[in-house]
Amino acid sequence: MEFTTDIFSAFDKKWALLTAGTIDKFNTMTISWGGMGTIWNKPAVTVYVRPSRYTFGFMEESEYFTVSFYPEEYRKDLALLGRLSGRDGDKLAKTALKAFEVEHGVSFKGAECTLVCRKLYSQSLEKAGMLPEIAEGSEREDVHRMYIGEVVEIIK
Ligand SMILES: Cc1cc2nc3c(=O)[nH]c(=O)nc-3n(C[C@H](O)[C@H](O)[C@H](O)COP(=O)(O)O)c2cc1C
Repeated sequence: MEFTTDIFSAFDKKWALLTAGTIDKFNTMTISWGGMGTIWNKPAVTVYVRPSRYTFGFMEESEYFTVSFYPEEYRKDLALLGRLSGRDGDKLAKTALKAFEVEHGVSFKGAECTLVCRKLYSQSLEKAGMLPEIAEGSEREDVHRMYIGEVVEIIK
């Protein structure tokens, strides 16, 4: 498995799609918070999802999730998938993205790269553990839940 990226801009500037579920029933949303590294001697991706997202339920129920990255031409689609909720209708139909099945999950044609991740750990962030300046900046009660996934496959 080989993957090279500028990790500090991969999520923050480029954004990604976080997708969980099966090809018959999945949901996807745009993310810009995330990390990549090593834990328990495994290559890992960490993502952060608010419980209010429709994707949240899929993340809770799925053993795997995918994180996929796209060229700039998909920026508008990613913006839409990060604004609309799959709870309210077929938001994918409003984009140029076409889902396809990968082993253990779903990705979309046009992806530069899809990381297939096996959920190793999840935990809700706690305000008590945040620096006051962070906690004060996050007024919402639905604090993110973090999911650490082992990268089991990289599809390019
Ligand atoms: C650029 C961008 C980055 C985002 N990053 C995150 C994120 O890291 N975590 C999160 O919970 N929501 C994030 N969101 C918000 C979700 O993508 C958004 O609420 C989406 O509509 C949820 O879709 P869903 O209800 O179908 O799951 C982001 C939105 C945008 C536009």
